[in-house]
Amino acid sequence: MQRGTRLVHHRFSMDSGTGGVSIPIHQSVVFAQESLEQPGEYEYTRSGNPTRRALEEAIADLEGGNYGFAFASGMAAITAALSLFSAGDHLLVSQDIYGGTYRALTRVFKRFGLEITFVDTTDLEKVAAQIRPSTKGLYLETPSNPLMKITDLARAAALAREHGLITIADNTFMTPYLQRPLELGIDVVVHSATKYLGGHSDCLAGLAVTRDAGLARELALLQNTLGAVLAPHECWLILRGIKTLKVRLAQQEQTATALATWLAGHPQVKAVYYPGLEGHPGREVHFRQALGAGGVFSFRLATSELARQVINKVRLPIIGSSLGAVESIISLPATMSHGSLPEEFKKRLGITSDLVRLSVGLEDAADLQADLEQALKSP
Ligand SMILES: Cc1ncc(COP(=O)(O)O)c(C=O)c1O
Repeated sequence: MQRGTRLVHHRFSMDSGTGGVSIPIHQSVVFAQESLEQPGEYEYTRSGNPTRRALEEAIADLEGGNYGFAFASGMAAITAALSLFSAGDHLLVSQDIYGGTYRALTRVFKRFGLEITFVDTTDLEKVAAQIRPSTKGLYLETPSNPLMKITDLARAAALAREHGLITIADNTFMTPYLQRPLELGIDVVVHSATKYLGGHSDCLAGLAVTRDAGLARELALLQNTLGAVLAPHECWLILRGIKTLKVRLAQQEQTATALATWLAGHPQVKAVYYPGLEGHPGREVHFRQALGAGGVFSFRLATSELARQVINKVRLPIIGSSLGAVESIISLPATMSHGSLPEEFKKRLGITSDLVRLSVGLEDAADLQADLEQALKSP
């Protein structure tokens, strides 16, 4: 089956017991045991729940993995993945990652003794140069957030394997429909399922997937022990969202390409960061490892004042920190999603107050373009 078909017809898309075309929501915490000698498949929802299992099997299947884990948020999935490491371990991390992940690493995991070096993972020579005897992991986001820089996943995974590092890739922007890091040699994929997989801005969720039985045992222990599991109803919402992922993403990408192309020629726009555009420095690598460019791009305005004006004046995109939803969402990463990064670091990366991020929704492209056009005009 091709990827689009599998989004609708995976092994857990139906209730095998009844033929129901939607998996039942098992809103139960405890599962009665046959006897002390015969415990059933499920005991207690933190350690396992049938609706959660359906989602976990579905995401494992879609990512080309063997083991899936569902968490209460993307950050809970990332926290579990980062908890695979121990005090004294050194981690190499992509420079412009999601601000919440940066905060978790620098404000929490550092306190527990992880050593972290942020590195430009688009340049694997720079990554190799930072590997020390204590380096145990490589954490990647591609396309990166918000500057849409591209890391070569297969080459990064090969380098990491040479040095015995665990690789983790945040696949939120691409989803398994467009990109499958495990098939390129990455060890663990994490998602904010809150975004494209759920797709409707109504459910906070996180996922982690691996092929490796040893890492899966550790992740299962962390999931059950840390306890930030996804509730049955939210699992059902993500399972439902996955069924329409292909059409949403295809439409969002088509509109994003049209808007990014138009903005790239606008006199008030200094740069557009979108791997779908000719001339994007990572375009060739990106299309080697992904089927499409996705529905998010960033653009740099002539001035910070203009960036502020555009965000405040648009009528269709909502101003918000999220992405991947049916409604377009516009944001100023410097103060919103990446507000927790130190000013100096943001300046060095180019996450400044003239940079706007747009997550394209399902509105008509012409309406979005007209809206951006009026927002770009002088007040
Ligand atoms: C790329 C990426 N990873 C992780 C997260 C965190 O996910 P959540 O908000 O579901 O905890 C986000 C949230 O914006 C994100 O954009």
